[in-house]
Amino acid sequence: MTADSLYTDITPILLWTVLGFSLVISVAALTTVIVLLRNRPAIVKAAPMPAAAASAPLLRESEKNGRSPEEALIHWSPEMLKQILAAELPDTELIVVSNREPYVHEHGPGGVELKVPASGLVSALEPITRTCAGTWIAHGGGSADRETADANDHVMVPPDAPAYTLRRVWLSEEEYKGYYLGFANEGLWPLCHIAFERPIFRAADWECYQAVNRKFADAVVQEAKTKRPIVLVQDYHFALLPRLVREQLPEAIIITFWHIPWPNSEVFSVCPWREQILDGMLGSSILGFHIQLHCNNFIESVDRFLESRVDREGAAISYGGRTTLVHSYPISIEWPEQTTPRRRTSAWARRRVLERFNLRPDVKLAVGVERLDYTKGILDRFHAMDEFFQQHSDWIGRLVFLQIAAPSRSSLPAYQALYQECQTLVEEINARYGSEGYQPIVLIPEHHDQHELSDLYRAADLCVVSSLHDGMNLVAKEFVAARDDEAGVLVLSAFAGASRELLEAIIVNPFDASGMGEAFYQALTMPIEEQRMRMRRLREVVRSNNVYRWAGSMLMDAARLRQREQFRELGSMPASAATPAASPPPARVIETPMKARV
Ligand code: F6P
Repeated sequence: MTADSLYTDITPILLWTVLGFSLVISVAALTTVIVLLRNRPAIVKAAPMPAAAASAPLLRESEKNGRSPEEALIHWSPEMLKQILAAELPDTELIVVSNREPYVHEHGPGGVELKVPASGLVSALEPITRTCAGTWIAHGGGSADRETADANDHVMVPPDAPAYTLRRVWLSEEEYKGYYLGFANEGLWPLCHIAFERPIFRAADWECYQAVNRKFADAVVQEAKTKRPIVLVQDYHFALLPRLVREQLPEAIIITFWHIPWPNSEVFSVCPWREQILDGMLGSSILGFHIQLHCNNFIESVDRFLESRVDREGAAISYGGRTTLVHSYPISIEWPEQTTPRRRTSAWARRRVLERFNLRPDVKLAVGVERLDYTKGILDRFHAMDEFFQQHSDWIGRLVFLQIAAPSRSSLPAYQALYQECQTLVEEINARYGSEGYQPIVLIPEHHDQHELSDLYRAADLCVVSSLHDGMNLVAKEFVAARDDEAGVLVLSAFAGASRELLEAIIVNPFDASGMGEAFYQALTMPIEEQRMRMRRLREVVRSNNVYRWAGSMLMDAARLRQREQFRELGSMPASAATPAASPPPARVIETPMKARV
């Protein structure tokens, strides 16, 4: 038998074998999917999507966040969050603590005005606190805040449809300066961000920071109606508060979410009060960061500076007889986008924005939206514009960069200097490339409300998020959510946490002005079909990883902790197995709603 004839003879057999084998695998896979879907909890609803599209988020979930594919089937919504709370944490009190309040009352020309601050933290937590009917404790910083609060310093909010209690905490001028402006924003903020701004540590600021953390901890204890509330502590203003609350409410579940990056241990070591800060944070039951890298940095810092036991596999730290889970929970925005009234098509928004800023109808529009902060890379994107015009001079006159820069922390010298630098650079670039009736960069140093921002996002050809360092960055997600026309391109810094999820953006290094200039070119010349493909994918990610998932994942982990505590109290679980670090959290949590429902 020749080799050729052997080949001819066995080919059909091979083919049939391969075919048969593939059939068996397909049937097995289909059966597994059916079994999985049948066995999933009744509470879990898959979003209606074609099969191919549906599998994509599952893969991404498992790849990017280490979550189980089953969890990705949860359709996160306010209703889902309510169901989880009712099933898993019945009658649990929720207390949120943050520096910034969700509603500020200010004296204005027409009387008392209500304002919602431009804060990612506020826009993420507001829908959650509304859904859970909790209590939110925050600094009452508005000029009319005292007169609008009752004798207990409470205000029911939102004012038009009261859903939860806002408890305002009053700070003296000295406390505000030392704790907020000083230690939090001149010390911890530059310490945690790689933006090459030197942190300033003053002993007097540290005194204020400790005193204000104590004041807020007392407010938590006063507001708590039960011995076991869930306390959601927000951000770098309250590193000491978890320990202070723990001392007074030992059975509380304290979840601390750090909204900004955590530096590597060498950078962190320059903080004169590093041990106290770590000790304070480890009063938490769960400590959350946006991305795994920042969890790793934190764990490394604890390992280096505190006598503790670090369980890297279980992502937990045992310290002073208690265990703290250290997990990543990428924050997000509300979905579906509530802020875009249906009638506002992208074409409508574009006309409106061009008219408002007196721009020619044929220009391409790049937008940037942020607080005026040196971590956001605002100067860097202007340098990139300069590079772009040098390389592509045919675009002079055809591109306008509209930069919204909301004033922020403006009494601090670093922020005043940034504002000056921005003004000067914009003037220089406009003088270099501008002409009669054409200014390449329009800088608007003003606050804008969500409707105005939504119009801007929908009018834009590209949105630039060039943070030098950023925990997450919600502007990137808001832009994606606003683009229901599936057009527009996102240019996103590799150093923003959002770049871990929004992979179909054009990812840039903001320190590389010419590279970022080329990214502008790529965005401006991208065919509409490619824009659509990328935007569809981005929207899928933001839709499924929405803010309810962020809060829901933390609360489900909290529910699991509570259950374990209860088992331990009942004596049905050995103490070693009851430590939260003993098992990996995410895959298991999905089972709990189902159990509770039977
Ligand atoms: O990024 C950290 C953060 O606390 C955000 O959560 C918030 O949007 C922003 O800073 C606002 O800062 P501030 O409250 O100082 O204006």
